[in-house]
Amino acid sequence: MNIEHLYRQVIMDHYKNPKNKGILADNSYMTVHLNNPSCGDEMTVQVKVKDHQIIDVKHQGTGCSICCSSASVMSVTLKDKSLEEAFSILHEFYELIKGYPFNPDILKGDAVVYQGVSQFPARIKCATLAWKAAEQAILNIKEDKSNG
Ligand code: FES
Repeated sequence: MNIEHLYRQVIMDHYKNPKNKGILADNSYMTVHLNNPSCGDEMTVQVKVKDHQIIDVKHQGTGCSICCSSASVMSVTLKDKSLEEAFSILHEFYELIKGYPFNPDILKGDAVVYQGVSQFPARIKCATLAWKAAEQAILNIKEDKSNG
């Protein structure tokens, strides 16, 4: 099995059996809804933070296999991280998606399977939609905290 085949398999596994899928009616979560202007697909992400630690991440969306699998991978990658770690991970993920070198000590696990996406610019928004929603949720939480 070559590496591209393995990456494709990981993506399909997350697409068919997504982790942390489903949105909760719970206002202790910060909820952010984004859509992909290029295709109209939508993604909702919920993040729950306690003591500067991400204790839960949920997602629900309509989209292609890249988008939906990436939401699942994002939830697993960011869960149980501190807010500072999450921002570093997000930064490294965006570097990877653009085809730039990324720090494998920071960005670990299944997220690396999206490194081929840089060759398909039309899919970059698919791969990053859930990550952008999570980033916005974390920024909103930080802002809420600094406002009181
Ligand atoms: Fe719509 Fe990928 S084609 S999110």
